[in-house]
This record gives sequence, C-alpha cells and structure tokens, in this order.
Amino acid sequence: MIGVFDSGFGGLTILKDIRRKLPQYDYLYLGDNARAPYGTRSFDVVYEYTLEAVRYLFSQGCRLVVLACNTASAKALRTIQQRDLPTLVPVADSSGLPSKRVLGIIRPTAESVGLYTKNGHVGVLATPGTVASESYPIEIHHLLPEVVVTQQACPMWVPIVENAEFDGDGADYFVEKYLNEIFLKDPEIDTLILACTHYPLLMRKIEKALQKRREAGMHPVCLLAQGRLVAESLSDYLNRHQELEKQLSKGGNCSYLTTESEDKFAQSAAIFMGEDICVKHIDL
Ligand code: DGL
Repeated sequence: MIGVFDSGFGGLTILKDIRRKLPQYDYLYLGDNARAPYGTRSFDVVYEYTLEAVRYLFSQGCRLVVLACNTASAKALRTIQQRDLPTLVPVADSSGLPSKRVLGIIRPTAESVGLYTKNGHVGVLATPGTVASESYPIEIHHLLPEVVVTQQACPMWVPIVENAEFDGDGADYFVEKYLNEIFLKDPEIDTLILACTHYPLLMRKIEKALQKRREAGMHPVCLLAQGRLVAESLSDYLNRHQELEKQLSKGGNCSYLTTESEDKFAQSAAIFMGEDICVKHIDL
C-alpha cells in the first residue's frame, strides 16, 4: 500500500494524479485536518506532526509514504529520511535502502521548472513555512543557478480551502492580493509554481485573476500544479526501485483517514475526487 499524507485536503490534488497514472496500487490517504494548517507552524511542530503521520501509515501497512504536502516536505522530510527511518525501519533490504520509504514533492517539482520557463523568471506561491525554508530557491538553483526565483507566502489560501470557501466571492480578494504582490516583486515572471498542494483547488480563481492581467496587457504566465509532475516522478521511482515496487499491494483500492470529522471530510473530499469517499476518523 502507498500512503499519501497531507495536513488536510490539499494532498488529494496529488493523490488524484497519482491514481490516474498508477491505478494498480492500493492507497491510504491521511489528512491531518484537525491540525491544519501546517504552513504557519514552527519547524519542530511540523516535523513532530509529520513523523506521527508517517509512523501511523507505516503501522497500517504502507511501505511507501508520499508527503503530498510541501510544508511537511520542506520541514520534515530530510530529518525523517536521515534520522528516523533507520530506527523506524531497522532492516534494510538487499538494495541497502530502508524497506519502507518516505518521499517528498519539492524536488520533482523543482526538477521540471526548466521545461517551462522561457525567460528564467520563476514565481513560487507557497505557505509561509515553505517560503521561510527556502527549499524551492535552493532546489531550483541547484539545477539552474541562473534562474531568478521570487517567492510569495499566501497564508490565507489554505484556510479558504480547508473551509470549503474556494468557490466563494471572498476567495477572489485573497487570490488577487497575493498574485499582485508577487508580480510587483518581479513583473517578468513567466512561470508560477503552485507550491502548496491546496492551491490547485483555487485554480479557477487563480486562472481568472491571470486572465484579468492578460486583458490588461500583461504577458501570459504558465501555471504549474504539482500533481502530474509528482505522479510522473513516482512512476519513475518505482521503475527504478523494483525491490520496493514488488512489495506494494495492487488491488486498485483507495481508503481515507482524517483526524477531523468523517462527515466534513467525506463531503469536501467527494467534491475534489469526483467520487464517493468512505473515510475513518483517527487520532494521531
Ligand atoms: N498542503 C500543504 C502544502 O503543500 C500544507 C498546507 C498547510 O497546512 O498549511 O504545503
């Protein structure tokens, strides 16, 4: 089974594309909705919460956990991979790698930036935590040192999504606010990364605001959501790690867990996933 973790609903935007690309596997989604948002929390708290989630998903039989959350990937992934995995999963398999793995979503996103930007001006829209971690500028500059990376924290976007207000009129104000701020910092941006998995749920509003800019004579901007990029990268990872791939169950099922109310999760998740959701409440 593959575990997919996020602070709340955002990871569903990744799960959807992963399941489309790799429908054969069984998935277990965990949304820590009761403690979302993570993006405004400290490094230590995000790390603790993420580790609890990883342990839980391992205990349920997941051999691989995808942190479908940029904030968790930025603040917890490296420590979990380097410090915790060797103790959580003491037995390494014949490849010398841990028999259970945790993957993040920042590197696969950063790796694809070069395919999209034409003028080398990239914007990163993310939570305050992801922005403060500098993970995106670091990862992008590692591959493309000459690219100009401009970041913008969008602290109101996750609460809007978690409260199912992504289609509401109030969302337009905050969508335009942060887009105006990032284009003020660098008007030349030609590629915008939605570097928080919640943000694709605001896609219609973001596209509408960008359309308004184009009508006002501004240049077109390529909007990059992570789902497809992560799905491609995961598929490639599993091809390269057959020892792990062989251990993943392949029943094509998907189950959901939330730390919040089951009804609330099922209602919103069914809209995002386009199917009925059966969800179980858990405490971490
Ligand atoms: N969806 C998450 C991300 O990609 C976290 C949002 C939050 O809880 O603040 O960063």
